[in-house]
Amino acid sequence: MISDSIFDDRMLSLGLARVAEQAAIASARLIGRGDEKAADQAAVNAMREQLNMLDIAGVVVIGEGERDEAPMLFIGEEVGSGKGPGVDIALDPLEGTTLTAKDMPNALTVIAMGPRGSMLHAPDVYMDKLAIGPGYPEGLVTLDMPAATRVSALATEKGCDPHDITVCILERPRHEDMIAEVRSTGAAIRLITDGDVAGVMHCAEPAVTGIDMYMGCGGAPEGVLAAAALKCMGGQIQGRLLFRNDAERGRAAKAGIEDLNKIYSRDDMVTDHVIFAATGVTGGSLLPGIKREIGYLTTETLLMRSKTGSVRRMVYRNPTTNMP
Ligand code: FBP
Repeated sequence: MISDSIFDDRMLSLGLARVAEQAAIASARLIGRGDEKAADQAAVNAMREQLNMLDIAGVVVIGEGERDEAPMLFIGEEVGSGKGPGVDIALDPLEGTTLTAKDMPNALTVIAMGPRGSMLHAPDVYMDKLAIGPGYPEGLVTLDMPAATRVSALATEKGCDPHDITVCILERPRHEDMIAEVRSTGAAIRLITDGDVAGVMHCAEPAVTGIDMYMGCGGAPEGVLAAAALKCMGGQIQGRLLFRNDAERGRAAKAGIEDLNKIYSRDDMVTDHVIFAATGVTGGSLLPGIKREIGYLTTETLLMRSKTGSVRRMVYRNPTTNMP
């Protein structure tokens, strides 16, 4: 039964930060240990345990996959004590499993929460994504534009040369043509091996990260999480689901998606106010990673609310007795 309590984002936000923190702490022992699955599982277990401590009637809408392939935090799983407001939860307990296993930058634990019905139930397929930071006219760049046109439109609006634009792209063979086209404009490309939630979020703070635009194809669930982040930080993201076969189209039908070619704006993906928390696992340009010292470890969490646009960076020192 959905509770009719109000979604009190202010009260729930600290709880959400704890969920992200504990997932990161749980994966700390597995940084650089070469075991992606174990790192992910540790984060999943911790996230679920923490979510179940919250007074919410939560449903996972973006999660670890379908019930039959994910034993925990599967899409549709109910979490929380069941006593509070009905909420949608989008999560990626460890965004960058390979980054964690190899101790490479920008692995995060990520979670967003909003009132029931506030987030697109994106199936686990790919999504073509395009993002820029805040302060630009809506629709300045679009998914229908060639990559080079996006760069020149952004440079013109920013009042700079394309050489002064940096685009973040996932390094994948499928992006070779896009990379060549962007390079032909003179723009710089920051290639990332994984982690496009962070890739998109980088656009929201170009002065800090040096990244002006994100483009390319990655996971659709990560697209919705990135949209939730930009809803809080400001900035635009567009996404179009990509289907490789009938099984993937079937997942869309199951998620209630009828128009398979729709371009989703940020506010189509996240239709109401949300809270977003991400904790750094390995250090990156967005968040420092977990710092281990004898007797304790320290995390940093980005905690944001779209209603107020508030962005907190919370440092948490967690005493440990059993860290190596
Ligand atoms: P995981 O943490 O689940 O491994 O995802 C990492 C990631 O790089 C995402 O950030 C991105 O959206 C997706 O994988 C890209 O998928 P692929 O590796 O198949 O290109």
